[in-house]
Amino acid sequence: MPDIAWLNGEFTSLAAAKVSINDRGYVFADGIYEVICTREGRPFLMEAHLRRFENSAAGLNLPLPDNYRDWPDIIAAGLEKAGYPETMIYIQMTRGVMPRRHDVPHPLTPQVVMTFRPKPRVDPAALASGQAAITVEEIRWSHCFLKTIALLPNVLMKQQARDQGCYEAIFVADDGEVHEGTAANVFFVRDGILYTPELGNYLLPGITRQYIIDQAPAIGLQVVSKRCLLPEMLAADEVFVTSTTVDAMPIVKIDNQPIGDGKPGPVTRKVAALFQ
Ligand SMILES: Cc1ncc(COP(=O)(O)O)c(C=O)c1O
Repeated sequence: MPDIAWLNGEFTSLAAAKVSINDRGYVFADGIYEVICTREGRPFLMEAHLRRFENSAAGLNLPLPDNYRDWPDIIAAGLEKAGYPETMIYIQMTRGVMPRRHDVPHPLTPQVVMTFRPKPRVDPAALASGQAAITVEEIRWSHCFLKTIALLPNVLMKQQARDQGCYEAIFVADDGEVHEGTAANVFFVRDGILYTPELGNYLLPGITRQYIIDQAPAIGLQVVSKRCLLPEMLAADEVFVTSTTVDAMPIVKIDNQPIGDGKPGPVTRKVAALFQ
């Protein structure tokens, strides 16, 4: 089954889906995105993802397209056409195609692309052993709570992590405040309690993060969302990072320092089990 795309109202093969070089996403990274994965074939936490999408759109003064209300049906049709056991749905909306100029003519027609691809498989060996991370200087803009496609700092820092043989880079401000990973939120465990950086300008309100916060009491865990500092994270018993595509990945080493006993811990395993 070929990967498929939905571009401005039409399903096509992914290879046939083309956008203009005048698209403001291409020229200015002027756009937003969402990633939704299916679980047992159905979009998981879709309403939460769409609410965040609406919030990102409002944050950029991007109008929602007229067909926005039909998106759940369009997504259902895309899933059926793609026919994968589990699908990763990527949705990108830019301010549209127009001659390059910084200010924005009104009215405008946003350009929407959805793609339907197999949900990437997370290597069970990586989950079992845990992964390493580095911390990096917070060089991103101050609106990281919007899911925009302005991801250059994230891309550069993820590559820096990979170049150092690590899985993730975790943004840390000058004053030592821990924000998030390049594509994931951060949790750590101390004396059985889960801590995660509180929401603010410098982190994305992760749908997976919120799901864990909501579900934690049912599995006997307390979560504290607060300002978190680097020394606390490095001294934690366990650290893990969370995202829609990976769920919960244990981080067993940060900046070459082992976390706890350097192995994925029991609380991380308990949280990961929420997704099974
Ligand atoms: C910067 C950033 N933070 C956090 C997350 C996790 O968000 P979610 O759980 O909604 O996938 C992502 C996911 O792509 C991200 O890009």
